[in-house]
Amino acid sequence: MPGRAFITTPIYYVNDVPHIGHAYTTVNADALARWHRMIGDDVYFLTGTDEHGLKIARAAEAKGVSPQAHVDEVAARYHQVWDLLDIEPDRFIRTTDVDHIAAVQSFLQKAYDNGHIYKASYAGWYCVACEAYYDEDELLANPDGGPGLDPIHERPVEWFEEENWFFRLSAFEQPLLDWYDAHPDAVAPTGKRNEALGLIRGGLRDISITRTSIDWGVPVPWDEGHVFYVWYDALINYATAVGYGSDPERFEKWWPHVRHLIGKDILRFHCVYWPAMLLAAGEEPPANINVHGYLLVGGEKMSKTKLNQIFPADLVEEFGVDGYRYHFLRDTAFGPDGDFSYEAMVARYNSDLANNLGNLLSRVATVVAKKCDGIGPAPRPDSPLAAVAAEVVADVTAAWAAVQPSAALEATWRLIRDANAMLEATEPWKAEPGPEVDGVLGDAIEVLRLVAVLASPALTRSPSQIWARIGLDGSPTDRPLAEVSGWGGYPGGLPVTKGDPLFPRLTAR
Ligand code: MSP
Repeated sequence: MPGRAFITTPIYYVNDVPHIGHAYTTVNADALARWHRMIGDDVYFLTGTDEHGLKIARAAEAKGVSPQAHVDEVAARYHQVWDLLDIEPDRFIRTTDVDHIAAVQSFLQKAYDNGHIYKASYAGWYCVACEAYYDEDELLANPDGGPGLDPIHERPVEWFEEENWFFRLSAFEQPLLDWYDAHPDAVAPTGKRNEALGLIRGGLRDISITRTSIDWGVPVPWDEGHVFYVWYDALINYATAVGYGSDPERFEKWWPHVRHLIGKDILRFHCVYWPAMLLAAGEEPPANINVHGYLLVGGEKMSKTKLNQIFPADLVEEFGVDGYRYHFLRDTAFGPDGDFSYEAMVARYNSDLANNLGNLLSRVATVVAKKCDGIGPAPRPDSPLAAVAAEVVADVTAAWAAVQPSAALEATWRLIRDANAMLEATEPWKAEPGPEVDGVLGDAIEVLRLVAVLASPALTRSPSQIWARIGLDGSPTDRPLAEVSGWGGYPGGLPVTKGDPLFPRLTAR
């Protein structure tokens, strides 16, 4: 029976244009969605932009444009970059979409009707960049002597006093602990699950979920003049997109079988607040949250103020879309922090794409032209590579199930290395044409076919080219994985063409 995969990225703030950190989560989610489509699952892949709140309103003001004009412009930049990277969501949601505004209102109305929201006044230190209140003891010392700095952006916080609506988060301490107890695999990796449990066990205080100081937000349906605070608007996007409040049957189909992909900066919101909000509205918490680390540049998180941001277009120009996607999926394991380095990107491109994969293809095509009149022979059913291939397919499958694209690609490249090693050991280019040479070349073409299939979630372009060069019709993803992942799928007797190198070697600039 086909499974179901509802895959999400965070929705990104439109105060900034997308850099390689935003693209990191999005490329991982897109590749995961492609994998699930390939194994025949029913997939819904969601990304989008977070467009309300003070931070956005101020950014628009600074530019001298209306908030709507500002968010339209930056949301379009996100579209452009995702197009550039072959990211194909089923929906690009914007929190200014009318169905989202309605969903936020009905979701929070439900929590209100259930008695989990009350009115009180609030005063505290607020960080506009985080859109969050901080306790005094959470702040970093300010070297300039003013108010403390928020621990994420290291910017001075501001004193805010407001009459607000509060969410009774404190009432959900035990329900959340019970829920996590019953769902041990809900948050990955385990260290992040423990971090979430630590936050809950440390005690939960009620949180303010509305603002009166701004009007750039979703109006509170039961109290005019209040808008929902941006996070409680934003989190609900995941429910809006699958029909919350508009299409109960559709919501039932997808919720709670979601796989959220997030960076570690927003763990508290996704692993504590969001599950509690869902419980308050009478819904199940999200089934699966996958947390990754930061992509660092020069050892630091990218930020506008540190001038260390890198943008996808700069890299795509040099490495191509496949080179870009491959690098981030293969080099930065999903979970820990990873340092981005241009030199490492060149080295990885040259070794894995230009040398291992590119050489296998060009070698095979050259020798097939010389020794087999350009017609690819069939693989050997008893090839020593058959067992390796079966193991690799199993490892790749396990890796995607655990949201470890890096491990999936590492396994796939093992097969390429073994095929190259077989060619080096048997040297078909030196041998007389005959069954021996045919067998070795047939095996190598079969490896190329399997690699084209297995690399398809990560690489959106070269797999189809490999497919065509070994004479196959259609594309590697036309049929479900189970039908194309067995050894011996290449029938033999098809024309093999050499063509230009798929991945020309690069020299570091
Ligand atoms: N709008 C909120 C999310 C709301 S989700 C309901 C937000 N937006 S954001 O634009 O700041 O994006 C944060 C996310 O972008 C991180 O969680 C992560 O997925 C990604 N990244 C941004 N910078 C990153 C790095 N330097 N490294 C890795 N991922 C990073 O928070």
